[in-house]
Amino acid sequence: MTDRGVNVEVLDDAEALARRAADLIEGVVREKPTLSLLVATGNTPLATYTELTRRNLDASAVTAVQLDEYLGVGEDDPRSLWGWMRRAFVEPLGVRKVIRLDATAPDPVEACRRFELEVAALGGIDLALLGLGPNGHLGFNEPPCLPDAGTRPVTLTPESLASNAAYWDGLAVPTGALTAGMDLILGARQTLLLVSGAHKRGILARTLQESPTPEVPASWLRGTNTTVLADRAAWGGL
Ligand code: F6R
Repeated sequence: MTDRGVNVEVLDDAEALARRAADLIEGVVREKPTLSLLVATGNTPLATYTELTRRNLDASAVTAVQLDEYLGVGEDDPRSLWGWMRRAFVEPLGVRKVIRLDATAPDPVEACRRFELEVAALGGIDLALLGLGPNGHLGFNEPPCLPDAGTRPVTLTPESLASNAAYWDGLAVPTGALTAGMDLILGARQTLLLVSGAHKRGILARTLQESPTPEVPASWLRGTNTTVLADRAAWGGL
């Protein structure tokens, strides 16, 4: 199924989605073991990461690039997105090289610039592995967001604060973050957008059906080399 360049695959459920995503990622890593991979945290990709670790995949030459981090949060903080990425993806898969967003740097803008330079030195992103925010954000590129928005500090929207609160069991969600830029995401040679659950149905419909708009940042993926993997619950009647 295609939608103006975006390829959509609908899977029966979250488990089937994770298996399919793992198949695709495994294929890309085998083809290019030195892949640069932009890695989402959040709930959606976790089953995919678990599925990947079950496979005999050598990811030791992959460079994992952090997608986002809460502003002011260091790696010892239980809410660290780097900590989440390390536990769920980097360590289980034996990834050795990472490019991180330093959200505790005295100058966050400068930290973003360093991150951009590191990614550029790597030749950009080969594969962006993303989840879909309830407000259409990718990473923490919150609406409204233009396609040329760079890696930068952002303020989280109330919707993101609410969805992220579910991760941290009563801990306050930081109100700011550093996010990999929309420009970097849209420049990825290939993107995999994972969408699971009925609560994503409305925003997935807007992502795929509305004309690309700053109000739904994920809609900028239209026309890029993107595969959307959605489970039936998220796909609904689309
Ligand atoms: C996570 C991230 C976010 C999530 C999105 C979906 O690093 O950048 O954009 O991918 O909010 O989150 P889940 O998967 O928890 O629904």
